[in-house]
Amino acid sequence: MKIFLDTADKLAIAQWAVTGLIDGVTTNPTHLAKEKKSPKELVQEICTLLPQGEISVEVTEKEPDKVYAQALKIAALHQNILVKIPCHKDYYGVIEKLVNDGIKINVTLVFTVVQALFMCKLGVVYISPFVGRWDDIDAHGGDVLFEIREMIDQYNFDTQLLAASLRSVQHVHQAILAGADAATLPIAVLEQCAAHVLTDRGIAQFDADWQKLDIKQFP
Ligand code: E4P
Repeated sequence: MKIFLDTADKLAIAQWAVTGLIDGVTTNPTHLAKEKKSPKELVQEICTLLPQGEISVEVTEKEPDKVYAQALKIAALHQNILVKIPCHKDYYGVIEKLVNDGIKINVTLVFTVVQALFMCKLGVVYISPFVGRWDDIDAHGGDVLFEIREMIDQYNFDTQLLAASLRSVQHVHQAILAGADAATLPIAVLEQCAAHVLTDRGIAQFDADWQKLDIKQFP
């Protein structure tokens, strides 16, 4: 499963880039708006931080013709960019055209298995179902991941399942069990996933026992 960072925070991306764990970044207008930098420059810098990574960048235009033109411009910023387009019927034709142009698309704001199937038919690279936003309205966001996985496998689509809007370790757990091809994690969630109190306690205990030997060199 690929691990993406769900942020546009350059510093955090740089810190995690060196771990070898990160396969890319998913930005969105909210993430970019938080940073005090030109979004275009920031996106280019993020691409440089992860030269092998897949970097998703979302369109901000509304009119389909403008979305199409903007998507081409975004894609031209760097070869590793995937263009994020919301899963809305106004953009179905745009998405189809872009796929035919060879632009890699990550369809965002996917909430149902039917929406996911429509996007798979259009041949996009990723569909991003939003788990946390389902939970926000008291539904079980994790279930959608399992349903979409089953649908993709049943019809043998090439589209990959990218679990998004993951707000907790439990969400990441569900994404793994559902067999998501990729998961995008906010930095705080990634930190929580990486840490375990029993790991820390075990390290401290091994170290304390080792110190009792009082040897200077090993081996
Ligand atoms: C990823 O592509 C999305 O932009 C992101 O996961 C949304 O997460 P949120 O619902 O926590 O804002």
